[in-house]
Amino acid sequence: MAKIDDLVLTGAASLGDALQLIERTAKEVALVVDDDAKLVALLTDGDIRRLLLQDWTLGRSLRDLPERSPITACMPCSDAEAVGLLDRHKIDQLPIVDDNGRVIDLLLRRDLTEKIWLSTPHMGEDELQYVNQAFATNWIAPLGPNVDAFEKELAQFVGVQHGAALSSGTAAIHLALVLLGVGPGDRVICPSLTFVASANPVLYQGAEPIFVDVETGSWNICPLALERALAECKREGRLPKAVITVDLYGQAADYRSIVPICAAYGVPIVEDAAEALGAKLDGQACGSFGKIGIFSFNGNKIITTSGGGMLVADDPDLVARARKLSTQARDDAPWYEHSEVGYNYRMSNVLAGIGRGQLAKLEERVDKRREIFARYEQALADCTALTWMPEFDGSRSNRWLTTCLLNHSLDPQAVMQDLARLNIEARRVWKPMHLQPLFKQARFVSSNETSDVSADLFARGLCLPSGSNMTLDQVDRVAAALADAVSRQPSQA
Ligand SMILES: Cc1ncc(COP(=O)(O)O)c(C=O)c1O
Repeated sequence: MAKIDDLVLTGAASLGDALQLIERTAKEVALVVDDDAKLVALLTDGDIRRLLLQDWTLGRSLRDLPERSPITACMPCSDAEAVGLLDRHKIDQLPIVDDNGRVIDLLLRRDLTEKIWLSTPHMGEDELQYVNQAFATNWIAPLGPNVDAFEKELAQFVGVQHGAALSSGTAAIHLALVLLGVGPGDRVICPSLTFVASANPVLYQGAEPIFVDVETGSWNICPLALERALAECKREGRLPKAVITVDLYGQAADYRSIVPICAAYGVPIVEDAAEALGAKLDGQACGSFGKIGIFSFNGNKIITTSGGGMLVADDPDLVARARKLSTQARDDAPWYEHSEVGYNYRMSNVLAGIGRGQLAKLEERVDKRREIFARYEQALADCTALTWMPEFDGSRSNRWLTTCLLNHSLDPQAVMQDLARLNIEARRVWKPMHLQPLFKQARFVSSNETSDVSADLFARGLCLPSGSNMTLDQVDRVAAALADAVSRQPSQA
């Protein structure tokens, strides 16, 4: 990253020096200062071209530049104000100067206006090699060496015996429920604060979801509320067939409590680790805490196959059955024989190739997302209107999305719109399932009688751009824009 000093030349330098500086720093300009370090001129490569057309030579001194006060701004200057100045003066670079006219920062239109997305695919060097191999060997179907290897490699990474590569995380949850025998009229417990894909498969099976509130310490299913929900079900003589847990935004749920509670009631756990590949609790990988774990490789996830998912389990029979069900449940016969309903849920060998290349980079991706989280936290340390999604002791989130909470007085929708005006994509925290029209009939078990933690996290939460291919400059841009947006809300004035 070029520092301001690297962009500065004095009058003693030549036009050729300015050209070389622009080439070297890739910051579009050379800043020319006088003996007091005050900015006197700004040269772009376009300016240099025009001077050369006016018979300047590259050896000519910058002292000969015509007098022209550059457009500058002073601190504080929000991104919106900076873009306004750039537009008004039809320029693309804006030096920020102190009271003495010395340059302290340089804002470039390309940095201020390039769209920053929430989480985009981050390709490495190896994916194409596996995809090319699939093409070269004509393994294009939803089976083949990449599928087999991806299953083994991912299961090994997670510390689980077996994996079945599928077309999506949703398909994996659906098959998990089928494998556990969930059918019409059965109950399935699920945390309320999650993406709808955690709960939709319960409806696919004609079963009844019971939504349980989350806790503030992890934003995941509250063990106390879970225990209460299970006790109520037991009293009613209708225990759920499964408990779906979710590791929200890459943070493990409190399995130290959840696993023994579910074991005491004899109810199996399906761990929806769609967002949590690479995350851990007490050194154990997310996705490995339940009888069945599931992952998503959707385009916005920490690693992607463009679309895909995986079901993992230690039990070889469960995973073998998942593979069978995912390929139309074909029986072992010399013709097409089917004795149960099946699905077309298998992952293609081409996409599994992408997954293998991505998996090799997973640790790096986790480190980068954690670095992004730390950078936001540090940059916004003085912003008392914000708090951050917790990471409880012994857990290691993959920080899939950096997520913060705004003070009660602030409106996350308005903040999100302010960020959108600066080409920054932010998202609200998932709207809880018990508040969704789709599930208005469903039972909800809150953490306690007086509070609804899921609703509060939804009302105040905001997810910030967190893609592992973001630059730290982009993170700083988002942080500055967020601080600015928060400070402009009426209650902060
Ligand atoms: C918590 C959660 N569960 C399930 C899914 C479903 O995964 P997929 O999009 O691969 O079907 C997602 C993501 O999309 C998710 O965030």
